[in-house]
Amino acid sequence: MTSGGDAPGMNAAIRAVVRQADALKVEVYGVWRGYQGLVDQEWRPLTTRACANILQRGGTMLNTGRCQSWHLPAVRAQAARDLRDAGVDALVIIGGDGSFTGAEILNRETGIPCAGIPGTIDNDLPGTDRTLGFDTALNTAVQAIDRIRDTANAHERLFLVEVMGRSSGMIAVNTAIACGAEAVLYPEAEEHTYEALVVQLRAGWERGKRSSIVVVAEGDTTGGAFQIGERLRNDYGLDLRVVVLGHIQRGGSPTALDRIYGSMWGSEAVKRLVAGETSFYLGVQNGEMVSIPLNRIHDKRPAPPKELAALAGILAR
Ligand code: F6P
Repeated sequence: MTSGGDAPGMNAAIRAVVRQADALKVEVYGVWRGYQGLVDQEWRPLTTRACANILQRGGTMLNTGRCQSWHLPAVRAQAARDLRDAGVDALVIIGGDGSFTGAEILNRETGIPCAGIPGTIDNDLPGTDRTLGFDTALNTAVQAIDRIRDTANAHERLFLVEVMGRSSGMIAVNTAIACGAEAVLYPEAEEHTYEALVVQLRAGWERGKRSSIVVVAEGDTTGGAFQIGERLRNDYGLDLRVVVLGHIQRGGSPTALDRIYGSMWGSEAVKRLVAGETSFYLGVQNGEMVSIPLNRIHDKRPAPPKELAALAGILAR
């Protein structure tokens, strides 16, 4: 099943799970709409042919969602009984931290083997250097900001561009580097203030810059792109613009990298479950595929490297 926010590459992982399982003569059912599908027993067989032509598509053929009732122990216990009655031996969950937390609890309470495949554009799971969808979302944001740069230049304007990441600055910081943004604001930053942003922008102006781009993560605590924009308008009379990239970053055809990781992780999840592993999620560390104990999902989430955020400021001269 896929769960939580969709991410490009999820379909690649579904296809790989189904086809690797078929190669090992294991039957696969798809669960529709994430955990809600487990609660509602909305599952049906997934054949290798049902996965034709999905590798290159964004979204998820299984649909997805966030299921509030999964927080209730009685709901989880009933779902576990239903799964056992249906003869299900193991679950593969493609999703982010909320989805893996749900799987970890299910596994701990009921012993149902669970394998996680990291699928979230936020790239914020402990123990893995990347998650499915991050590369695609990053490239989408970069392409969009390159276009904004053209018009910002033409009008000699300041743009505040909001990118996704309610509690993660991974997309924001990496986008800022790749777009040559003049500044980046993101939730994990320890010290950035409105005043510091003004100093940074003023320094650019004094060096002759007449247009600037500030990348703001959705979850930034300075006030968000609209509020900062309003403040700058009031304080300095700037003719600035605010752009929210929003869900554009979540859709679209996955990059080659997201397809490759989706394929590798999908296959690996099946092989490890068949070999008897019962509580893990997959990841990559320093280029090597790794299996991470599912309970590590409660560890501290990775934040963007501080040096990378500082570099954006240094290079914007
Ligand atoms: O977790 C992925 C993500 O895209 C976040 O970056 C974003 O804050 C959130 O999902 C948006 O969720 P929704 O689609 O429910 O508005």
